[in-house]
Amino acid sequence: MTLHNDVQRILFTEAEILAGIDRVAKEVTQAYAQRDFTVVSVLKGSCVFASDLIRRIPIPLELAFLAASSYGDGTVPGRLEINFLPTGNEIEGRNLLLVDDILDTGKTLLAVRDELLRRGAREVRTCVFLDKPARRAVDLQPDFRCFEVEDHFVVGYGLDFAGRYRNLPFVGALREEIISAARTRNGA
Ligand code: IMP
Ligand code: MG
Repeated sequence: MTLHNDVQRILFTEAEILAGIDRVAKEVTQAYAQRDFTVVSVLKGSCVFASDLIRRIPIPLELAFLAASSYGDGTVPGRLEINFLPTGNEIEGRNLLLVDDILDTGKTLLAVRDELLRRGAREVRTCVFLDKPARRAVDLQPDFRCFEVEDHFVVGYGLDFAGRYRNLPFVGALREEIISAARTRNGA
């Protein structure tokens, strides 16, 4: 029994993902050609995307991490927590490129962006692996994005469901039974 059995269909194959990242890496490279910048990878979800992305950007950059969690064990958002913020001198006066796995309601990235600006970042742009515009609840569009997705809960390539599936090398939609079984277990 492998994780693949829980996936109903594949939305983006590994080859499609890498082609999408190549495209976005070129856009980012052009945008920052003459400027220092720091890639801020939002953990845990963006670690896979960020590591493939930065290796396709052939200009100087620095790397920082922070952790944001808005999801408990289900598919509905909970309270947002931001941890492990970069130190003041990694933020103050810097051009930051916030990298996240998915822009869904947009609440996470908006809150993180505002916090980084409050701490003195010169500029904060956003780069997301997936964009789910149908679910947007705040006024935020990504500056860079690899793919748009419809309103499905997706997993793989860093994205989790209840902490699992991040290691799938593709993006897939979970079988409905998997989601409803977890809801039943959680009493939802
Ligand atoms: P937002 O604040 O609603 O934009 O949610 C952003 C976070 O929710 C992402 O960084 C993901 O961790 C999680 N998330 C949103 N949609 C999905 C999904 O379809 N699959 C897995 N995680 C998701
Ligand atoms: Mg998540």
